[in-house]
Amino acid sequence: MTTLVIGANGQIGKQFCERAREAGEPVRAMIRHEDQADWFARRGIETVVADLEDDFVHAFDGCDQAIFTAGSGPHTGPEKTLLIDLYGAIRAVDIAVEKGLERFVMVSAMRAEDPMSAPEKLRPYMAAKFAADAHLRQSALPYVILKPGRLTDEPASERFAADVDEAGDNRISRDNVALSLLYAVQQTGLANAEFTLLDGERDLADVMA
Ligand SMILES: NC(=O)c1ccc[n+]([C@@H]2O[C@H](COP(=O)([O-])OP(=O)(O)OC[C@H]3O[C@@H](n4cnc5c(N)ncnc54)[C@H](OP(=O)(O)O)[C@@H]3O)[C@@H](O)[C@H]2O)c1
Repeated sequence: MTTLVIGANGQIGKQFCERAREAGEPVRAMIRHEDQADWFARRGIETVVADLEDDFVHAFDGCDQAIFTAGSGPHTGPEKTLLIDLYGAIRAVDIAVEKGLERFVMVSAMRAEDPMSAPEKLRPYMAAKFAADAHLRQSALPYVILKPGRLTDEPASERFAADVDEAGDNRISRDNVALSLLYAVQQTGLANAEFTLLDGERDLADVMA
């Protein structure tokens, strides 16, 4: 089962790719520029150069499932939120359907189901995540939607919580998100499920049961 990683050169993307390689899970890393390929080549990870703002259908060739962990990031304006976080994700889902992929794993965001509850500055981004998630849910594709809280660069604690009350905080390390992506990829029977994920005290298998 080969997994296309959209956003592979990002922080979560790279951590996931490394963990997948260690676990023997075949991945195809979608990167935007040829000069990003070296990091993956040194680890024996296949890459494909493609851009969410261009034609990226070819990236899906030979893949059975896809992970979307791309993002426009905090340093771009609303136009990139629309084109990458919203329309890029929607197009990725549509291509996955056309290409007959078996599953789609979306990295969404905690409380994306209620964008207006976010701080004002984050609402357009949350609305993009809301709409991309909705598009995936109503597609014909089996899906897993992961909703991490605020991302940190701590090492993986490998312990998780399912909501803020349980966690006592709203954070999760990117490395813990990478672990949860690996778990989702390996649980091939996991479908049409959504999980809020935070750093906590429980096993991942328990939180994602
Ligand atoms: N920040 C938070 O607190 C938070 C909370 C919840 C969820 N999330 C979600 O977590 C995910 C990843 O987070 P992260 O920290 O790993 O982000 P990141 O390091 O900024 O990685 C984002 C990746 O998206 C890629 N990308 C951007 N535009 C693209 C395009 N047009 N075509 C193809 N790829 C493109 C970037 O490519 P380059 O490497 O070429 O720039 C980068 O590799 C995102 O989906 C984000 O929305 C974030």
